Amino acid sequence: MNDRSAIAKEMKFARNILKMKGSSTLKAAQTATRLKEEGKDVIDLTVGEPDFDTPQFIKDYALEGLQKGITKYTPTAGLKTFKESISEYYSEVFGADVSPNEVAASCGGKQALFNAINTLVDEGEEVLIPKPYWVTFPEIVNFVGAENVFIDTEETDFVLTADQVRDAITPKTRLLIVNSPNNPTGRVIPPVEMRKIIETCAERGVYVITDECYLLFVYPPGEIFTAAVLPEELRKYVCIAGSFSKSFAMTGWRIGYTIAGEEWTKQMLKLQSHSASHPTSFVQYACARALQNSDAMGNAVGEMLAEYERRRDYLIPELQKIDGLKTEMPEGAFYAFVDVRDLLGDRFATSNDFAEGLLSSEFVVTTDGAGFGADGFVRISYATSMENLKRAVEKIAGFIDQ
Ligand SMILES: Cc1ncc(COP(=O)(O)O)c(C=O)c1O
Repeated sequence: MNDRSAIAKEMKFARNILKMKGSSTLKAAQTATRLKEEGKDVIDLTVGEPDFDTPQFIKDYALEGLQKGITKYTPTAGLKTFKESISEYYSEVFGADVSPNEVAASCGGKQALFNAINTLVDEGEEVLIPKPYWVTFPEIVNFVGAENVFIDTEETDFVLTADQVRDAITPKTRLLIVNSPNNPTGRVIPPVEMRKIIETCAERGVYVITDECYLLFVYPPGEIFTAAVLPEELRKYVCIAGSFSKSFAMTGWRIGYTIAGEEWTKQMLKLQSHSASHPTSFVQYACARALQNSDAMGNAVGEMLAEYERRRDYLIPELQKIDGLKTEMPEGAFYAFVDVRDLLGDRFATSNDFAEGLLSSEFVVTTDGAGFGADGFVRISYATSMENLKRAVEKIAGFIDQ
């Protein structure tokens, strides 16, 4: 009889899943966790999530939901109150006109992206992705058997422009995926340019997914821009992938949403109805109640943003002082994207060697840029304490000096 490992070796997996790679950012984070478990004094700069706890009032609303018995299945698109609260929040905070029928709750921004891409793109079609990119975008495109067409944005300091999009569109282009504020670069596309990008796509019948996962994390004087404010004729080409994870420090709650035209939404709901069904009922309730309390939401975000800004204002100038490192001031999110190419040569052949050296010598964990399509860079998250950042800066400078 075959033993288990022999069976596993013979096992054949679906073509689509074999086209997908595991998440490289999760790998770096797992290394950090393993070293911490081994008792090492690790400074983890890989974190893609806020180091703040979820605001207490949101937790209280979740308890209220449980007490009220909101523990059963909900509609696939989410509780009526969830959809209405998103619609009202977008109207109140951004002046956008979003119908509750255009909103669908999802298990985080990731599922929103998965639903949107899977319902729109066919095998062989082209999907435009600005580079550097968040690791999940090309992998979902791989999964559906479409072609990733990367737009290099280094020339424009990692800020995508409408001209770059226009040049990349071909008759096979189906979709552009754009993410601002951006992970991994922290750059923000100015509202005027974002509008032009979407117009450029819409004029050519190309759809756009705007990943607005870091929407509220734009540092003053930058402007928050959601595609939800665009006029109807542009909005029908757009699907917004939204998330509560980062803005409200709720990564573990797994709650996000899409805002898209009703037809696109219906197709996404069909897919979701046969997979996750919907995000957790009382989590939807908590989010709905929290959004209705937009003052409390605004204060909670404001406090977190101010702290991220304080860290950014310390970290970036300190990194800029270190010989061999180049980095720009990010306008949003909580990442510094650092060019280490001046250090490459005999000591480190690649940014991955640099990141590994920093890890093994100093136990400072960063994420190599190669996973984001940007070899020669590392991503440093400042979703960690000021104390950690100060220690990290010293260790990085010491390591490079060696
Ligand atoms: C750019 C971007 N989009 C979407 C997500 C998904 O977040 P979640 O699924 O937790 O909402 C992340 C998480 O790291 C992200 O960085």
